[in-house]
Amino acid sequence: MSRSVLFVCLGNICRSPMAAAVAHYEFAHAGLDWQVASAGTGNWHVGQCADPRAADCAGAAGFALDQHRGRQVQIDDFHRFDWILAMDQANLRELKALAPANASAQLGLLLQVAGTAPPDEVPDPYFGGRDGFDAVLSLLREAIARLPQRL
Ligand code: 4NP
Repeated sequence: MSRSVLFVCLGNICRSPMAAAVAHYEFAHAGLDWQVASAGTGNWHVGQCADPRAADCAGAAGFALDQHRGRQVQIDDFHRFDWILAMDQANLRELKALAPANASAQLGLLLQVAGTAPPDEVPDPYFGGRDGFDAVLSLLREAIARLPQRL
């Protein structure tokens, strides 16, 4: 069955664009025609390209982020997507606060839904170094490879 998945972080320039690029590859590789997208709970980076560190890190592993432009979570997303998967607890709290009463999307933490937790959260790499981005990519790859069996 077809699925649509929205990956959500704070700024939509680091973690969730990387997650969407990995998922785009993994789902296609698994023969699934699933829709993927990403968004941020914050609005600071709307319309912007992915963080260059995220683009370098993901690009080196074959996941291109060139086409990415930041966008903020919209109320419509709670009706358009089957799953909305947050990178951390703060993102999930924001999503729950925003969700309309008649939301059809299921909300969860990516690493819990994937069944790879602990850790429960994909740590925010924004204020750290390149090693943080590499760690994020490896958490994402392990978790997202399991989603076809879990969603
Ligand atoms: P992301 O990373 O949520 O993984 O995209 C961040 C990007 C920007 C900021 C924080 C985290 N910021 O504070 O602008």
